[in-house]
Amino acid sequence: MRRLKIRRAEPSDFEAIWPIFREIVSAGETYSFAPDTSKEEAFDTWMVKPQVTFVAELNGQIVGTYFLKANQPCLGNHVCNCGYMVSSRARGKGIASAMCEHSQVQARERGFKAMQFNFVVSTNEGALRLWQELGFEIVGTLPKAFRHKDKRYVDAHVMYKWLDT
Ligand SMILES: CC(C)(COP(=O)(O)OP(=O)(O)OC[C@H]1O[C@@H](n2cnc3c(N)ncnc32)[C@H](O)[C@@H]1OP(=O)(O)O)[C@@H](O)C(=O)NCCC(=O)NCCS
Repeated sequence: MRRLKIRRAEPSDFEAIWPIFREIVSAGETYSFAPDTSKEEAFDTWMVKPQVTFVAELNGQIVGTYFLKANQPCLGNHVCNCGYMVSSRARGKGIASAMCEHSQVQARERGFKAMQFNFVVSTNEGALRLWQELGFEIVGTLPKAFRHKDKRYVDAHVMYKWLDT
C-alpha cells in the first residue's frame, strides 16, 4: 500500500530535493529561477530563505517538496506564498494536492490569513487547474511576463485564496 507522509525538511533532505529542483528549473517552463541555478543557490532559495520547507515522502522516498514564507514584509505579512515541486516520476497521484492542503493548514496554524501564488505560468495548465480546484482564484494576469524556454513571452497569473473563515 502506498503511503504519503509530509514532514518538515531537514538540511540533509536537500540531496533528494536537488534532483527534483534541477529537473523542473532546468526545463524553463514553470519557474522564473535561472535554468542553470547552482545547487548552492537552489539550497538558499528553497531551504534557507523560506520560513519553512516540507518534503512529501511516498513509501519513504522524497517525491515532492514545498516552501512557505510571508509574501510581503510587515503590513502584508498576513499573506503567505508557497512554491511546490513534484518529481516527474510521481505526478498525477495527488501529491501536489496533498501538499497544497497541508500548506493551507500550516499557514493557518502560523497565523496567515491568505495565500498568494505570484507567478503561475499560463501554459502550466495542470497547475492552474489544480490550484483552481483547491479554491485559488486568478486575481490578475501579467501579460507576457514569463519568458518560456522556447523564447515565447507568455502570461503569468497571480492566484489568491483567503484562508481565514
Ligand atoms: C504542478 C505539479 C506541482 C502538480 O503535481 P502533481 O503531484 O502531479 O499534482 P496532483 O497529482 O495533485 O494533481 C495533478 C492531477 O492529477 C490528478 N490526481 C490527483 N490525485 C490523483 C490520483 N490519486 N490518481 C490519479 N490522478 C490523480 C488531479 O486531479 C490532477 O488532475 P488534472 O490535471 O486533471 O487537474 C507538478 O506537475 C510539478 O511539480 N510541476 C512542475 C513545477 C510546477 O509547475 N509547480 C507549480 C508552479 S505554480
